[in-house]
Amino acid sequence: MAEFSLPKNSKVKEGKHFAAPEGATNVRSFHIYRWSPDDDQNPHIDTYDIDMDNCGPMVLDALIKIKNEIDPTLTFRRSCREGICGSCAMNIDGTNTLACTKGVDECKGDVKVYPLPHMSVVKDLVPDMTHFYAQYASVEPWLKTKTPVSAASERLQSKEDREKLDGLYECILCACCSTSCPSYWWNSDKYLGPAILLQSYRWLADSRDEATGERLDALEDPFKLYRCHTIMNCTNTCPKGLNPAKAIGEIKKLIAERAL
Ligand code: SF4
Ligand code: SF4
Ligand code: FES
Repeated sequence: MAEFSLPKNSKVKEGKHFAAPEGATNVRSFHIYRWSPDDDQNPHIDTYDIDMDNCGPMVLDALIKIKNEIDPTLTFRRSCREGICGSCAMNIDGTNTLACTKGVDECKGDVKVYPLPHMSVVKDLVPDMTHFYAQYASVEPWLKTKTPVSAASERLQSKEDREKLDGLYECILCACCSTSCPSYWWNSDKYLGPAILLQSYRWLADSRDEATGERLDALEDPFKLYRCHTIMNCTNTCPKGLNPAKAIGEIKKLIAERAL
């Protein structure tokens, strides 16, 4: 098992080491970021050696095993355990992803687990999503219509128009993309970031929505949209295989086209 060591100038110190049970032969080490507002310690990395012969295959399985059997103080979010709720997003092995869909076998050597980068930490692996959700609310993510329909009817959409929402509606708002985006790291107070812009485009692309003009007015701003410099980290990291950079490009195209 490789010895874990932090860079010499790291402010994050090594913490406790929980050894695997005696006789375990299939052991993987998990180095996990720990910080709690309830004690006066600086952030540190605790190491847990896990017997993988008695653990499920995903990183989330290992985290649950640690919490249930080794250290109940370890704190993380999770719900669906099948890549649907987005709550287990964290940085694993240097990449933002979902702990429930990331196999331990996909990680090289020891498994390093950190919270999503450049977010305030509530505790351990739990980031503060308050600002992210406020940004989501700011794009008014619901169908806006002006034309009345009778109570007996539905707002119909052709098959072709419905297909325009593919690659958008699947977003689970995990924030892996936004927290991998350098523009979002430095300007998240004003830049909406790839997740929220993809969500915004989901409504711009919806043939039933009748608020395109006002939605574009709200986005036409030097920071909210135009801080994207097409670095593509967002698309490379999305655990659902979506392409937020393309959605951002489509919004810019809509704004350019209406200026013609
Ligand atoms: S393409 Fe835009 S949104 Fe995506 S990582 Fe780059 S700057 Fe951020
Ligand atoms: S686009 Fe992908 S990475 Fe970004 S929030 Fe949605 S599902 Fe997560
Ligand atoms: S637990 Fe729901 S996405 Fe991982």
